[in-house]
Amino acid sequence: MRYDDIADELDEVLVTGEQMAQRLDELAREVERDYAGLDILLVGVLKGAVMVMADFARALQRPVTMDWMAVSSYGHGTTSSGVVRILKDLDTDIDGRHVLIVEDIIDSGLTLSWLRDNLLSRGAASVKILAALRKPDAVKSDITADYLGFDIPNKFVVGFGLDYAENYRHLRDVAVLAPRMYAQSE
Ligand code: PRP
Repeated sequence: MRYDDIADELDEVLVTGEQMAQRLDELAREVERDYAGLDILLVGVLKGAVMVMADFARALQRPVTMDWMAVSSYGHGTTSSGVVRILKDLDTDIDGRHVLIVEDIIDSGLTLSWLRDNLLSRGAASVKILAALRKPDAVKSDITADYLGFDIPNKFVVGFGLDYAENYRHLRDVAVLAPRMYAQSE
């Protein structure tokens, strides 16, 4: 970890920035093949997906457009209520569009399950999912990533867009947050 002043706040690095960049390059080649001759609209889910969107979109060697949503998962982390609130909606009419959702992580899969159905109900021609990371609990939902970076263990991770209380999103690596950082507030 290059950030000496927070090194003691983090445990092991699970995915380095270099590993993520290489994997996103591979996924970009797959997406280019799969969407040959089709327009793609990348939909990023704020805020966590900012980093993966920036890196993945720039790895694509073909035209692409981007839009953003912000959603809030009510009951997230406790009960899977299925209630998701839109905090910021798309600016784009997606009727007939091929949408590729870009996410940082699939944890329970609740957010993406709802989002996929929501975008399909607006008339998207197709909705696929690219996720940088996936946790084991995701296999309990009906969500599968069409394009997946890495499976990671069920630990509290930060970096590459993922936060704890809005901190650490800017780290290039995905690292396990030291439990003592959140033990007292839970
Ligand atoms: C995180 C992450 C996904 C979601 C995944 O977002 O960015 O959107 O949770 O969890 P799930 O698979 O259990 O639904 P969060 O709500 O923390 O907002 P953020 O992106 O602004 O950090």
